[in-house]
Amino acid sequence: MFDLPAYLERNNARILRALNRLLSSAGPDGRLLEAMRYSLMAGGKRLRPNLCLAAAEAVGGDAEDALPAACALEMIHTYSLIHDDLPAMDDDALRRGKPTCHIAFDEATAILAGDALLTTAFEALASMTGCRPERCTEVARIVAAAAGSRGMVQGQMLDMLSQGAALSLEQLEHLHALKTGAMIEASLAAGGLLAGGSAAQIEALRVFGRRVGLAFQVVDDILNIEGDPAVMGKAAGTDRLRRKNSYPGLLGLAKSKEFAHNLVHQAIEAIAAFDARAEALRAIACYVIERRK
Ligand code: IPE
Ligand code: IPE
Ligand code: MG
Ligand code: MG
Repeated sequence: MFDLPAYLERNNARILRALNRLLSSAGPDGRLLEAMRYSLMAGGKRLRPNLCLAAAEAVGGDAEDALPAACALEMIHTYSLIHDDLPAMDDDALRRGKPTCHIAFDEATAILAGDALLTTAFEALASMTGCRPERCTEVARIVAAAAGSRGMVQGQMLDMLSQGAALSLEQLEHLHALKTGAMIEASLAAGGLLAGGSAAQIEALRVFGRRVGLAFQVVDDILNIEGDPAVMGKAAGTDRLRRKNSYPGLLGLAKSKEFAHNLVHQAIEAIAAFDARAEALRAIACYVIERRK
């Protein structure tokens, strides 16, 4: 049996060290860096960087080659959470078990800390030295596409626009694919590419990422109903309050759980051709639906 907790603990220590190195050169000590550090180091599951490293291993490469990209993905994700929590967006006060960035600091600082995390992430991507330049460029392009107006940011826009409106299942799947799936898919593609994966391997990793990514957001919707805020480190019940579209809202809880299970099954199927070096990916996929936070 693959020991996922030990695997995550090992990787998270490595990711934390690398994030600290990147932050230490991100600017002068002061309020901005303090706010960036506050949100980045508040905890979090580090799912995207772990997927990135595990994808590198799955194609038979060295996870070390993917470490700067893993950190960049976590910085972009953290920025997206800081902005997601702002009063103009989801207006949340708790994140990763702590007051949200705009509560701990102030709104302007939270906006700027998000901006700075996003730009520092691309600096990290552009500074990668361990891989062929064309691979680095391709990864920067993939991450930019996933994070921006064709990916996560567009997903957030759709999420805001559709508050209070009833989406079809197809529209909701599209929203979730952009809002959450795109960054997760990019994490897998980036890790696989930086470790020298073949085109067929990258495509399989992308399919895996899309399915795990959708399952992840379906579970986020489920936890928003029945999760424990003390365990999750963020509020529950907010989707209904803000009239957000969600899978349980459309399908009910039982069908949403079944749907997430099926997606994870399909994700694991997509990487059936990979050998034992993909065990971490398979274990992370199962964790996505078992998680309580
Ligand atoms: C929360 O992401 C936002 C979604 C995209 C669902 P995570 O659940 O990965 O948050 P952290 O990084 O663990 O805090
Ligand atoms: C957040 O989605 C997705 C991001 C791109 C940040 P949600 O708003 O549904 O996630 P939580 O529940 O606040 O973490
Ligand atoms: Mg949101
Ligand atoms: Mg939110």
